[in-house]
Amino acid sequence: MALTNKVTIVTGAARGIGLAIARRFVEDGAKVVMSDVNDEAGEAAEADLKALGEVTYVHCDVSERLDVRNLIAAAIDTYGDVDVLINNAGIVSPGDILTIDEAEFDRVLNINLKGSFLCGQAVARHMVDRVKNGGPAGAIVNMSSVNAVFGLHTQLPYTVSKGGVNQLTKAMAVALAPHGIRVNAIGPGSIMTDMLASVNDDPAARARILSRTPMARIGEPREIASIAAFLADEGASYVTGQTVYADGGRLPLNYTVDVPEE
Ligand SMILES: NC(=O)c1ccc[n+]([C@@H]2O[C@H](COP(=O)([O-])OP(=O)(O)OC[C@H]3O[C@@H](n4cnc5c(N)ncnc54)[C@H](O)[C@@H]3O)[C@@H](O)[C@H]2O)c1
Repeated sequence: MALTNKVTIVTGAARGIGLAIARRFVEDGAKVVMSDVNDEAGEAAEADLKALGEVTYVHCDVSERLDVRNLIAAAIDTYGDVDVLINNAGIVSPGDILTIDEAEFDRVLNINLKGSFLCGQAVARHMVDRVKNGGPAGAIVNMSSVNAVFGLHTQLPYTVSKGGVNQLTKAMAVALAPHGIRVNAIGPGSIMTDMLASVNDDPAARARILSRTPMARIGEPREIASIAAFLADEGASYVTGQTVYADGGRLPLNYTVDVPEE
């Protein structure tokens, strides 16, 4: 397996998409460092995945530079290196331009965008040093969203942060290409995680989502994990600076589709 022994850091890995990515990488033989701010869930997930392979949990708030530094150091202490970074941690916070307050805007941007910058910079510097010393390059995958493209006005800081993640991905990819390090992003549509739970529990909100989803269903976290595995792997060796959208056909649709009554 191409991911065998690849030391992989996954942020926001205690649940949802991050947990599915950690699971997929452990199953594929990677040595996975899971990190999160929810230590109880993170440690429980670590205990589950240990039955499948090499995994360790480390506390890390991605918006805190010292936490990020500790995370990279822990990966290197535990497994000797970092081959892959999955910048997955993210939050939502409702509010439009008239209602969102400055502190909340900062909080979302600090986690979703600055967190990816801090982790990306620390790992990129490690990878570049390794390449200069004759070692292999690595891969970084950022978690974007279809809302990097759509203007989700009811989630202003979120949509701004994900637009930023796409630009961060491109600028990192170009800067790191001479070192052989690839940087890509994934742009999920609606995926069945706790982040989406309130929407899924509300039939009208669910119908609104499905009316914009030609594939007529909400996605599963493992369907995002498989893209992360592809982008981190040698199979994507000539792919960099891209955002791969997994949205059941939402972005190509400029209309709505009929939703059967439930
Ligand atoms: N679920 C969706 O429909 C969807 C769609 C598009 C993009 N995404 C993106 O996918 C990623 C994961 O989303 P999810 O649906 O699994 O969400 P989730 O809320 O289920 O999980 C997010 C995880 O991130 C952790 N986290 C929160 N703040 C953190 C911080 N400061 N530092 C480290 N970890 C932190 C949480 O504790 C949680 O374990 C996010 O970046 C999200 O924006 C999700």
